Amino acid sequence: MRGHAMALAVAVFFAGVATNDPPLPIVEGVAAQETVDVDLVKRGVKLARRSGCATCHSLDGSRRPGPTWKGLYGQKRALANGQEVVADEAYLRRAIVNPDAEIAQGFPKGMMPKDFTRKLSEEKLRAIIVLIKSVR
Ligand code: HEC
Repeated sequence: MRGHAMALAVAVFFAGVATNDPPLPIVEGVAAQETVDVDLVKRGVKLARRSGCATCHSLDGSRRPGPTWKGLYGQKRALANGQEVVADEAYLRRAIVNPDAEIAQGFPKGMMPKDFTRKLSEEKLRAIIVLIKSVR
């Protein structure tokens, strides 16, 4: 039953995005999960668009200037320095607030804007991280 309610919520979410907002290419890859807080994901999508993240990051695996967020969470992430880290929540946070400390392999250093700590409140940051975690 819970799964059904979630599917419904996600359907409403997509419909809402489609009707109220201009087309958002990054939405298509979002996979609903039982444990996802749909409202927070929805907020994350809005924030990712408003903050410009969507210009450089896709949710559906398609190539943009930055790595896609699809399947990122929980995976091993190769870094430009040859090391490997698990893309857990702490990594996602570091990648946003201190972007030059670890550079994703195959992507340019210095492209991630460095002023997100000023622009994004903790609450907004959390919503975006929850969104990234939801994109499997
Ligand atoms: C101008 C393009 C650009 C914008 C805008 C941008 N990013 Fe990035 N981002 C990148 C690039 C390029 C990388 C890879 C290099 C690196 O690790 O810094 C990256 C890396 C990341 C990573 C690590 C991804 C991985 O696969 O390891 C996260 C998480 C991330 N960005 C989140 C965000 C968020 C959240 C926003 C918006 C608030 C944002 N980015 C805005 C270009 C961008």
